[in-house]
Amino acid sequence: MNFVLADKVAPYAWFPEGASSFAPQVDNLFTAILWICILFFVPIVILMGYFMWAFRERPGYRGSPEALHNTPLEITWTVIPTAIAVWVFWEGAMGYLDMARIPKGTVDVNVTAMKWKWAFKYENGGENGFEKIGKTELPVLVLPVDRDVKLIMRSDDVLHSFYVPAFRAKRDVVPGRYNYMWFRPTKLGTFDIFCTEYCGDNHSQMIAKVKVVTEAEYQQALAKAIEEPEDPLERGKLLYKRLGCSTCHYAGEDGANGPGPSYNGSWGKQVSLENGQEVAFDENYVRESILNPAAKARKGYGSASPMNSYAGRVKDEQIDALITFIKSLESAPPKAK
Ligand code: CUA
Repeated sequence: MNFVLADKVAPYAWFPEGASSFAPQVDNLFTAILWICILFFVPIVILMGYFMWAFRERPGYRGSPEALHNTPLEITWTVIPTAIAVWVFWEGAMGYLDMARIPKGTVDVNVTAMKWKWAFKYENGGENGFEKIGKTELPVLVLPVDRDVKLIMRSDDVLHSFYVPAFRAKRDVVPGRYNYMWFRPTKLGTFDIFCTEYCGDNHSQMIAKVKVVTEAEYQQALAKAIEEPEDPLERGKLLYKRLGCSTCHYAGEDGANGPGPSYNGSWGKQVSLENGQEVAFDENYVRESILNPAAKARKGYGSASPMNSYAGRVKDEQIDALITFIKSLESAPPKAK
């Protein structure tokens, strides 16, 4: 199954480790605001409790007349909180402007969000790799340490939001336009990427990893990102993940029917369609379903297929490789859900 349990994602008791140039600024401001709140809240609540007890109504006790005005006191409790609020606003606004102003000379990465997957494309046109984390393979974005990184982000379908807690960086990914964000990773390591905008059934599974490496390792990763294996089956397996087929069509060990029909045991069979017809699951059917998914929607998956068309995004030899992969699962038994 493609489901990831919470324990496979780093558990955070407080803040996750700060790993970008924004982290000290964000953490310090958050901590300062928290302490300001504590330093006001605690004495106010204690005094309130004390006054309720000290001035409670009791026999023979007559309240003193209400105090109406005290200029020095009123000036104090106006000026001090105003100064604090202005300081908080100033620090927050400066931090925000830092995040909004994208520096020159960045490492650029294209980020595409889709239900329910992240895809990353590097400057050389190469695409992200995958790593098995727990039972699930997640997309891995490799970035160099101590370089400014700019993400050029768009969504294929609905509103998503790109969030790396360790970088204290978050931005919405919006369909129909590009959105940008930047940050500078300052620590080597692997960190979580989450989607933080509810985007449908598998929103919580829309996770990925960012791996911060040295410049030399980053160059190696770039070189690897443009390669596709020669062997058609290996190529098909890689494309199955890279193109995002794996988020809905489960295959192999995990080959149950999911949001889309499983690839296991489909090849060469007659399959039922939503419109009541039957069709042979062969090269032409696979090709048509990749390029025009709604044409022959499978029974039980709705006549309006939720899958986006891959026309213009996948080359003929890549479709051949995917066919080789699906064919290789001909006798893999489909698993129960
Ligand atoms: Cu994508 Cu939530």
